[in-house]
Amino acid sequence: MTGKTIILGVTGGIAAYKAAEIASSLTRHGCNVKVVMTEGATHFVAPLTFQTLSRQPVVVDMFAAPKKWDVAHVSYAQAADLIIIAPATANVIAKLALGLADDMLTATILASRAPVLIAPAMNSNMYLNPAVQHNLDLLRQRGFQIVEPESGYLACGDRGPGRLADPDKIIEEAQRLLTPGPDLTGWQVLITAGPTREPIDPVRYISNRSTGRMGYALASVAALNGAQVTLVSGPTNLPVPTGVKRIGVVTAEEMYQEVKTRFPKANALVMAAAVADFRPKRCSQEKIKKEKGLVLEMERTVDILASLSKEKRPDQITIGFAAESSDLIAHAQEKLKRKRLDFIVANDITRTDAGFATETNEVVVLWPDGRQEHLPLAAKKDIAAAIWKRAENLRKELLASLPK
Ligand code: CTP
Repeated sequence: MTGKTIILGVTGGIAAYKAAEIASSLTRHGCNVKVVMTEGATHFVAPLTFQTLSRQPVVVDMFAAPKKWDVAHVSYAQAADLIIIAPATANVIAKLALGLADDMLTATILASRAPVLIAPAMNSNMYLNPAVQHNLDLLRQRGFQIVEPESGYLACGDRGPGRLADPDKIIEEAQRLLTPGPDLTGWQVLITAGPTREPIDPVRYISNRSTGRMGYALASVAALNGAQVTLVSGPTNLPVPTGVKRIGVVTAEEMYQEVKTRFPKANALVMAAAVADFRPKRCSQEKIKKEKGLVLEMERTVDILASLSKEKRPDQITIGFAAESSDLIAHAQEKLKRKRLDFIVANDITRTDAGFATETNEVVVLWPDGRQEHLPLAAKKDIAAAIWKRAENLRKELLASLPK
């Protein structure tokens, strides 16, 4: 983080005093910290506190006479490597969702291309209010990063979510955002995510527990790092990541058709979807009445990855996932070989912190030459970045080895 310019936006909530610890920690990490306070924040903590901790003037008033001749919010916006808002009140979140720019902080954010990290802190009813949640969803979709507040005792006497996230967690998240990602400029990537549903009749289907989180994280990270991303997704509740083209599918066959058509144009195919291996041989047009009983005859679906790997050109990469409940490495190695993959990402789904419905994952990357790399427990976004980094290096090697 050393040498990075970080704008620390402090807004008017009781947690403003905790921002002092963040300013101090960022300064100790060698960052150039520029604190921007809203007028409301100055009622909780004096600008002098931040001025002393950051060793720089603190800006509150957008119209204060500038020290040297530049347009303050624009020069701050351009200088920023990262903008952190901690604490972020419901008010500033709403202003950002609307694109308002009526103070130095919101004007700076609107004028900046730097990543923005928002750490909300407020009363739990306010935080859970649908208006606030909707605004946070909007911001997430636009690529803002949110550090969720913690649950616990709140200054107003209530208990619940709304406490500012731990300053160490905010710094950790800032570090992550400042770590250079893979360079996927010019890449066309095809990613699959989520479960498929295989119909039995008009109301019933067979599916699995996949939530799509890992695939969506891969799509989001790829788009943020310059790739053109097509995400072929089974049914999920996840918002479409910014810059990603989502193609919704339901069955394994629909997924196969969509992926097959798009594969020739892709530089990389990452199959993170949990594709059903079997489907009912017949789908009843009418709802099956329970009195009749139900015995299903099943048939195999196409193995999308195995089928497309056979057609892949030497400049294309295919990456698979192996979600296993036993013999992780042996099963993953077998799939790597059988599906002729460039590498496979294996994870143990019996774990509670690295399974389907979690925000975190811990995986082993297996290569055709027998190498195994362990990626320790981390946010799915970080695992996604690590996977893309490997894909980036692999593509460089592939292109270098191809005849000119
Ligand atoms: N996959 C696929 N098409 C299928 C099934 C799986 O493309 N019909 C892909 C998955 O997206 C994943 C990889 O193949 O990237 C491994 O999937 P997994 O379900 O773990 O393995 P299977 O081949 O289905 O083998 P098994 O059911 O025996 O574990």
